[in-house]
Amino acid sequence: MQHWRLDCSRQTLVLAATGARLPQVVYWGAPLPVTEDLATIHAAHAIDVTGGMLDENPDLSICPEASRTFPGQPGMIIRSQNGTPLLPKFCYESDTVSETGLTLIYRDEAHRLRYTATFQIEPITHIITSQAILDADAPIHLHWLSAPVFPASQQSAEMIDFSGRWCGEFQLNRTAWSPGIRMRENRTGRTGHEHFPALIVPEHGATNTIGAAHAFHYGWSGGHKMIAEELPDGRRQIQFGHAPRVEADASTRFTSAPLYAVYSSDGLNGCAVSYQRHLRDHIVTFPKADRPRPVHYNCWEAVYFDHKLDVLRDIADRAADLGAERFVLDDGWFGQRDDDTTSLSDWAVDPRKYPDGLGPLIDHVHSKDMSFGIWFEPEMINPDSDLHRAHPDWALGGEDQTLGRQQKALNMALPEVRDFIYGRMAAILSEYPIDYIKWDHNRVLPAPDAAQTRGSYALIDRLRADFPMVEIESCASGGGRIDFGILARTQRVWLSDSNDALERLRMQHDAALFLPMVVTGSHVGPRHCHTSGRTLDISLRAWVAAQRHMGFEMDPRELTPHETSVLKEVTQWWKSNRHWLERADILRLDSADPAVVAEQQLAEDNTRFVVFAGKAATSNQILPRPLRLTRLDPNAQYEINLLNKTTAPTLSRGAPVLKEQSITVSGNYLMHQGLTLPWHFPDTMWVIEGRKL
Ligand code: DGJ
Repeated sequence: MQHWRLDCSRQTLVLAATGARLPQVVYWGAPLPVTEDLATIHAAHAIDVTGGMLDENPDLSICPEASRTFPGQPGMIIRSQNGTPLLPKFCYESDTVSETGLTLIYRDEAHRLRYTATFQIEPITHIITSQAILDADAPIHLHWLSAPVFPASQQSAEMIDFSGRWCGEFQLNRTAWSPGIRMRENRTGRTGHEHFPALIVPEHGATNTIGAAHAFHYGWSGGHKMIAEELPDGRRQIQFGHAPRVEADASTRFTSAPLYAVYSSDGLNGCAVSYQRHLRDHIVTFPKADRPRPVHYNCWEAVYFDHKLDVLRDIADRAADLGAERFVLDDGWFGQRDDDTTSLSDWAVDPRKYPDGLGPLIDHVHSKDMSFGIWFEPEMINPDSDLHRAHPDWALGGEDQTLGRQQKALNMALPEVRDFIYGRMAAILSEYPIDYIKWDHNRVLPAPDAAQTRGSYALIDRLRADFPMVEIESCASGGGRIDFGILARTQRVWLSDSNDALERLRMQHDAALFLPMVVTGSHVGPRHCHTSGRTLDISLRAWVAAQRHMGFEMDPRELTPHETSVLKEVTQWWKSNRHWLERADILRLDSADPAVVAEQQLAEDNTRFVVFAGKAATSNQILPRPLRLTRLDPNAQYEINLLNKTTAPTLSRGAPVLKEQSITVSGNYLMHQGLTLPWHFPDTMWVIEGRKL
C-alpha cells in the first residue's frame, strides 16, 4: 500500500495505491488532520462487492486501465505504430514528493511505456494543477490521454458545464447526474464559444455563497474532451484531455494540458475566487506588473473597415477626452482590406488609407497620452491575398473546404509559415511604437489538430520573447479562445462581440466563475447595439463596462452631452478605484430575485467593496427583494453608500433610506438581512459602495 497527501488550508487530496497499481484519489475535500491515518482512509474508501460484480472492484485510478476490467472509460487509448491496440498495465516505478507537489511515475514493461502524473497545489489560490505525460520507447499512436482522473462527489445531483455561441458566451448548463456519460467533445480546433473547457460539480444545496463544490478547468486552446461518467456501481469519474485523435503522427511523448482543479466549502464563489486569483497571479504575466490597466478605446464598431486618418484623429481626440488611455486600431489597416473578403496574411500597411504609414496616427494618439494597439489575425489567410497566391499550400485543409468568414487557417505546424508570419508581424512591431496586439481567430479549423495549437503557441511565445513589452488580447470572434493555455501567453480576453450591456452583464457574471476583472475586456458600445439591435441607456452601458477592464467602442461622435458626462463620470470612478478593483475578488451574489444579476467585488484587504446590482428584467414582485452580501466581517461596521442614488426614477416614490443617505450597519446585517434598494426600471444598475469602519 502506498499513500500520498497534498494539503493546503482549504483542502486535502489523498491518493492511495494498492500494491504497485496506479493510485486513486481516495479523499478530496475539507482538510484532514495531519494525524489522519492514510492507510485507514484507504481501507475505509473501499466499496463492497455484491451479486453480479467482479470479485474485486477495479480502481477508479488516476488513469483507469481497460486491462484491469475497469467498467468505464479508460484514461488512455493508444496503438502501436502498426495499429495494434495497446492495453497497458502500469506498475509503480518512483515518486517524488515535496510540500506542495507530487510526481508519480509508473512503468509498463511489456509495452515499454512510462506514465507520469504530476500534482501541484498552490497554497494561496488552492488550485491543484495536474498533468499526465506518456513516454514510449518506440513511437506509438495516441487516441486519447486524460489528465489525471479525479472522482466526482456522489453528494451531488447535477453538474455545471459551459456552452455558448457568438455574442452569447459562457452559458451555464446544469445536467442531472445519471448512469452513463455526459461527454463534451470539441472538434473545432479552438477553445470555441461553444465549449469553454470546464466543469463544476456542486454538492447538494451549494449556491454561489454556500455549500461544497469541486471545479475543473482544462488549459488548452485546441479543443477538449470531457467525460463525466457515473459507473454502474455509482462511482463517478471526471476526465479532461485534448479532443481525441488530434495527434496525426506517432510519437514517443504525449502530454495532456494542465488540469486546474479545486475544492470549495464556501460555495461556487470559493472555486471562482481560486480561479480568478490563480489566473491573475500565476498564469498571466503582465509586462509591467504595477501598471494599472489602461482604459481602452477600440475603433471597430465606430468605423469598421472605413479607415480615414482625419476621422480616426477626431475619434482619438474624443476618446482621450472621455478618459481613454490606449487606442486600438482594429481590422482594416493592412493589405487591401475594405471588407472581410480579402488580405488576411498580407500584413503590410495599406498605403491607400495610410499614405505616410501608421506614424501620423500613432503620433497623434501619443500626443493625446494614449498608447497604441493594433489588430492582427495571424493564423488566417484569405484566398484573395498575395500570400495565398504565392503559397496556396500553406493553408490548412483542402481546396474544396468550406470557408469561414471568407478565410482559411494557415498551417501553423509548418515552421516556414510561422517564420513568415513572425517576420511580417515583427516588422510592424519594430517599425512602430505599439504596446498591444488584439490577436483575433475568426474561424474554426477544417479539422482539429494538436500541432496547429502548438504552432500558434510557438508563434506567440516567439513574439513575446522578442517584444516583451507588448501586451496581447485573445479574441476569436469575441470569446472563442478563452482558456488558461492562451492566457499563459496573453493579458486580456475579448469576452464577446456583444457590446449589449444587458447580455454582457449576464456573460460577465458567469465568466467570473473563472476570469478576474484584470483580464476581462468590457467596452461601452454604441447606443443602438450593433449585434442585438437593443437601445440601452448610457448609465447601464458605462457601469457594465466598469465592472471589468473598461473600454469604449462606440463612435464618440454619436454621444450627447448627457452621455458624455455620464461616461466621463463613470470612467473617472473606475480610474480612481482600479488600484483595488484589479486585485478584488468577484463574488457572485445569491439574488433572491432572478431579474437581478448581482456581484460584490471585495478588496483584497477586505476593507472595502462595491456591489453591482444589475436589473436585467422586470421583476415578478413589485419591489426589490433585499440583496444579501457575502464574505464580510460579521461584527464589523460598514458604511454603505448608494453611489448612483440620483438616478432613481420618479416612479420610485418612497424613501428607502439608501436613496437619501449612507447607512452604517454590521457585516452580519448585510449578510443576513441584506440591502433594501430603491425601485428601479429594468435595464438599470445600482452601484453600492461599502467601507469597513
Ligand atoms: C472579430 C472581433 O471579435 C471583432 O472585435 C473585430 O476585431 C473583428 N473580428 C474584426 O474583423
